[in-house]
This record gives sequence, structure tokens and C-alpha cells, in this order.
Amino acid sequence: MATIFLTGATSGIGKALCLRLIKDGHTVYGTGRSAEKLKALSDAAGSTRFHPVTMNLASFKSIDAALSTHSNVLTTTDILINNAGATSADKQMTEDGFEMQLQVNHLAVVYLTHRFFKGLKANNGMVITTSSDAHRRTHFKEKALRDETRYKIFKRYQETKLYNLIFSYYLDRVYGKQPTRFYAVHPGLVKTDLGAKNASWFVDKMWKLFSATGQPPEGPVPTYLKLINERPAEYVYYAYERPNHHLPEVEDERIQETLMTHALDALKIKTFGETE
Ligand SMILES: NC(=O)c1ccc[n+]([C@@H]2O[C@H](COP(=O)([O-])OP(=O)(O)OC[C@H]3O[C@@H](n4cnc5c(N)ncnc54)[C@H](OP(=O)(O)O)[C@@H]3O)[C@@H](O)[C@H]2O)c1
Repeated sequence: MATIFLTGATSGIGKALCLRLIKDGHTVYGTGRSAEKLKALSDAAGSTRFHPVTMNLASFKSIDAALSTHSNVLTTTDILINNAGATSADKQMTEDGFEMQLQVNHLAVVYLTHRFFKGLKANNGMVITTSSDAHRRTHFKEKALRDETRYKIFKRYQETKLYNLIFSYYLDRVYGKQPTRFYAVHPGLVKTDLGAKNASWFVDKMWKLFSATGQPPEGPVPTYLKLINERPAEYVYYAYERPNHHLPEVEDERIQETLMTHALDALKIKTFGETE
């Protein structure tokens, strides 16, 4: 059984996945930004193998505080699941000075993976990041990465999900020869409140209409279980328990290097994965 650190465990896909992982006998550190929701999740999990972690991904101070409270996770975690994600109708800036979706959906993913990297390598571990086929509706542009383009909710969301995939393929290319495995998942269309949070009246209505046709939050869980249980070696991006198509540019080394250089500069990291 594995020790799993799962972000965004308090709603939607993360909650369904968390409860299933606990049921299967794993130990789960599940993150959330709401103490109330974490308490409800703890009650639903009903197990000492569930450990709630308060962490706001829109604040690097909050991430650091959580990781110093639960510092054991940096050495004991076998699997990091970067699942949390957010949208916002209006452009919001975080206390760290980044656009919110860019920070929560992308920079926090790179930062957490960096913090866990040494331990994951030592444990022959795994990183799974929840991306989306929404990435196919955009293309990589440096200007967007540097937040120099006009903010549009869906465009920005698509871009951050593209960054998730580029990052996952970068990790696989550079570190994938080690036993550590790197994956990204497209969960499919899932009926959650994702698009209704931080939404305008219009976006809320649109998301509810659109997602009503989606599968329940438990729907994508088997894809994560397949990766955890089988550790397939041949591919990085999965959906519906099978390898999934992605934009060819996610494997472009120049694009991967541009993304990583930007993230490491933004996060003031000298060498990825090296924390003293
Ligand atoms: N639903 C879909 O159709 C779909 C399709 C493709 C990909 N995805 C991806 O699937 C993942 C899960 O989304 P979901 O649909 O399950 O949505 P969700 O129900 O809204 O869950 C998102 C999770 O992320 C957490 N989160 C958001 N902002 C955060 C922050 N600043 N700090 C800490 N946690 C934060 C949420 O916490 P709260 O509970 O406090 O809100 C929640 O636990 C996301 O990465 C999303 O991009 C979803």
C-alpha cells in the first residue's frame, strides 16, 4: 500500500479519488483550503489512514507552512497527485503576484513536485497531474506564459492545462529513465463545481449546462487506479484507462525548456528537485 499526497481532495474528482484510495488501503494526505470541507472529508473517510492537510495553492507561504507541519510527507510519499485546479471569471492576482489560474493550476504544481522530488525518487515513486483535453484548444505562447496577453477565463484555463502536460512530458523525458514514473490524466467531462467557483452569472449557467452531461466524479477514478496499480511504462497521458492523444508540441524540447525556465525563475528555484 502506498502513501499518497493528493491535492484538491475536498471536492469533485479529488474527493471521489481520495475516498476510493482510502477504501483500497492506501494512506492519503489530502489537501484542502477549507477546514470545514477537510473535516467533512475526514468524517466520510472514517479512517486513521486519512490525514487532512490545510493548504492554499494560491499562496506559496501556505504551501510551505503545510509542508513544515507535515514534513514527514517529503520522505514518506510514494505518489504525488497534483489534482487541484481552479478557474476564475475575473483576473485575480495572488499574494505572490501571479495570475491565480497560472499559480494554482501550474506554478504550484511545479513547486510541489520540486519539494517532493527527492523523496519520490528515493521511493521509486510517481507523479500524476490532472490535466485536460481542453489543452488541445490552445497553443503554447511565451507571452501567455508571462501573463502578457489579455485575460480570458477559458483561454487561461486551457493554457494552464497545456502547461500541466508539457511539464509531465518534460519530467518523463528528463527523469523518466529512473523508476520514478510521471503521468498526466484527462478525466473526461465530469459533473463538478469546477466552473461554478469564482464564476460570473453567465459562466456559472454555462458550466452547469455543459457539465450536466458529464460523468459523476467517480468516473475518472479507474484511470488513476490503473496508473497507481500497473505503472505502465509506455506512455504519459491517459484518459478512460487508455493512452490519450495530446498536442504534439507538448513533446517539443524547446517549449519544455522555455516552460521550465519560466517556472524556475518565477519560483526562485536554482535546480529543479534539489532542496537542501
Ligand atoms: N470537471 C471536469 O470536467 C474536468 C475536466 C478536465 C479536467 N479537470 C481537472 O480536474 C481537476 C479537479 O477538478 P474538479 O472538476 O474535481 O473540480 P472541483 O470539484 O472544483 O475540485 C477542485 C479542487 O481543487 C481545489 N482548489 C481550487 N483552488 C484551490 C486553491 N487555491 N488552493 C487549494 N485547493 C484549491 C478545490 O478546493 P475547494 O473544495 O475548496 O473548492 C477542490 O478540492 C482540476 O485540475 C481540473 O482542471 C476537470
